[in-house]
Amino acid sequence: MAVGIDDIALFIPRLFVDSADFAMARGLDPAKLKQGLGISKMAIVDTNQDPACLAANACLKLMQRNNLSPHEVGRLYVATESALDESKALNSYVIGMLEQVYGDGSFEHCGGIECKFACVSGSYALYDNANWIRAGESEGKYAIVVVSDIAKYDMGSSGEYTQGAGAIAMLLNDNPRLMQFDPKVTSTSIKNEYDFYRPFGKETPIVHGQYSNLLYLIQVKKAFEAYKKKALETGLIKIRDGETILDHIDYLCMHLPYSNMGKKALSYLLRREWRNLPRWKRIIEQTGMEEPVPKDPRGTIESILADEEYMAKDHEFTKLFTRTKEYQAFYEDKLASSLIASSMIGNLYTASLYLGFRSCLEFEFQKGVDLEGKRFGFGSYGSGSSAMVFSGIIQPTYKEIVKNMNLEAEIGERIKLSLHDYEEIHENRRAPSQSLLDPKNEFVLVGIENSPESKGERKYAFCQ
Ligand code: CAA
Repeated sequence: MAVGIDDIALFIPRLFVDSADFAMARGLDPAKLKQGLGISKMAIVDTNQDPACLAANACLKLMQRNNLSPHEVGRLYVATESALDESKALNSYVIGMLEQVYGDGSFEHCGGIECKFACVSGSYALYDNANWIRAGESEGKYAIVVVSDIAKYDMGSSGEYTQGAGAIAMLLNDNPRLMQFDPKVTSTSIKNEYDFYRPFGKETPIVHGQYSNLLYLIQVKKAFEAYKKKALETGLIKIRDGETILDHIDYLCMHLPYSNMGKKALSYLLRREWRNLPRWKRIIEQTGMEEPVPKDPRGTIESILADEEYMAKDHEFTKLFTRTKEYQAFYEDKLASSLIASSMIGNLYTASLYLGFRSCLEFEFQKGVDLEGKRFGFGSYGSGSSAMVFSGIIQPTYKEIVKNMNLEAEIGERIKLSLHDYEEIHENRRAPSQSLLDPKNEFVLVGIENSPESKGERKYAFCQ
């Protein structure tokens, strides 16, 4: 059965911090953020926005654009790592808000849960809902999967410049206009890890930055190996001598904690795919240096990171590798467009991968590329840690959706925050009622109860 993404809508807060202003304020070289990490702006939530109203706003846009009524939606899942409650699921808040527009009880038939596994949980939610449709349980109804997060790190930490916020809502059905998932190839890897985690009651995560970078690469590679095996065994992709499966994937979308992580992931995967192919000889000629190997190739992530000589050589080799014409061509053709939105918005945790997908569709279409029949490969990563790799094919009807994509228009007029205002918001010094912007046609948080009997109850309103 054809199952996939029919439409995709996003909601991004209009406040942002400019990376150059931020770098100056923290005594950093602006080039480190812009060139080194690929960050130009970070979307920041206003005082009256939280992950639930970001999710509800994305969902409302998706429903209004498609003239959907609640009875056409059979499931509504929300994936997040910015949970508001240890028990109450984020989708219940979202349904509460949507019912302010569609009427009390209008979603009561609509099942769903909040999904958690750091940034990868949205991909698990998509997979599970696709299988709900495949299993014939949907009775012709749509499933909506919303990915919504606020990426917030401690002030002064090295994660602070990789913040961002936003939500993406995806409409799934058995006759998708946009992209059909490839069947029986979705693959995962999983391992108990502490690269990035947020203990109960803590608003910001504990992060082992360089460890998390390397773990991401290793886990995605493992899931990719499993995907490769399935794609070849099922005959989904056939390769000839001297080829890699990546030659048959037209676009790659990676989880993007910051834009340049996509480049890191691409060079990591390509080096491992290409090093046993005839083309490697040409590549080594261009780099002018052999690919380095760690002292203990079977060592732990810690031992590899501690192998300073290897890390320095590997860094040098990666730089040379990414300048080869083979890498450059692959990067420009298959990855570059997916990184643009991330640079403009920042990390959206669960939504980052799908922001990349959205970015690739819009900017490739603008170049005049016909996307029909193109295969998109997805590399999803969640700390803690798990990766998921899957793929899909763009459908002949895709233009109906993609022709109207315009990221800047969809976000609306963006307002640059002063560092003072950013810090006020970051440190929660302002109440929801002290928002910087006047909300329009959107759900906002109006207050949080503090009395012992209803502590934590959140109230939302739709502002016309
Ligand atoms: N000019 C230009 N480039 C510069 C520069 C300058 N003056 N100074 C440094 N750079 C470059 C560096 O060479 C480096 O690029 P390469 O990796 O290509 O060499 C880049 O800027 C970053 O420099 P550092 O690695 O020194 O940066 P850092 O120590 O500040 O840490 C980070 C970067 C680890 C990503 C940190 O921001 C962090 O901890 N972020 C949060 C965790 C994270 O995003 N982890 C990613 C994987 S986990 C995940 O994906 C889940 C998730 O969403 C969080």
